[in-house]
Amino acid sequence: MSTDELNVEELLSQLNAALAWEMRAEVMYSHFGAYVKGIHRLHLKPYFEGEAAESIVHGKTVREQIVKLGGKATTRRDDTEIVHTTDYKVMLRESFQTETVAAATYKKILELPGIDSELFDALEQISFEEERSIEELSQLLD
Ligand SMILES: [Fe+2]
Repeated sequence: MSTDELNVEELLSQLNAALAWEMRAEVMYSHFGAYVKGIHRLHLKPYFEGEAAESIVHGKTVREQIVKLGGKATTRRDDTEIVHTTDYKVMLRESFQTETVAAATYKKILELPGIDSELFDALEQISFEEERSIEELSQLLD
């Protein structure tokens, strides 16, 4: 087996980890959008709802790639705790953490040898969006 040969099992396992993380992100952002209090609700409710919607789109893309590879897409979200809070600063910190893990997950998949260009492009696009979210959140936390 050459070193740049695709390990489909490994790829599917990492794609499923990314999908589970997107499903967790969707629930987390929806939860934060519902619970954010005070004057910041004005901005952060639509912000969190937008991020929840983005997580659904990312999850959809990843799921379709799993199907294309003949894999079985997970229906369970990652079980890492979603912190319940009404403190927007905690929400932003949790969001930053979540996006950081997401970006690292996609980066790892993009480095796998032998993935085809369509999959690479789709995941690279998501990866750029996670990086933008990290940048935005670090400014919100400043
Ligand atoms: Fe995402």
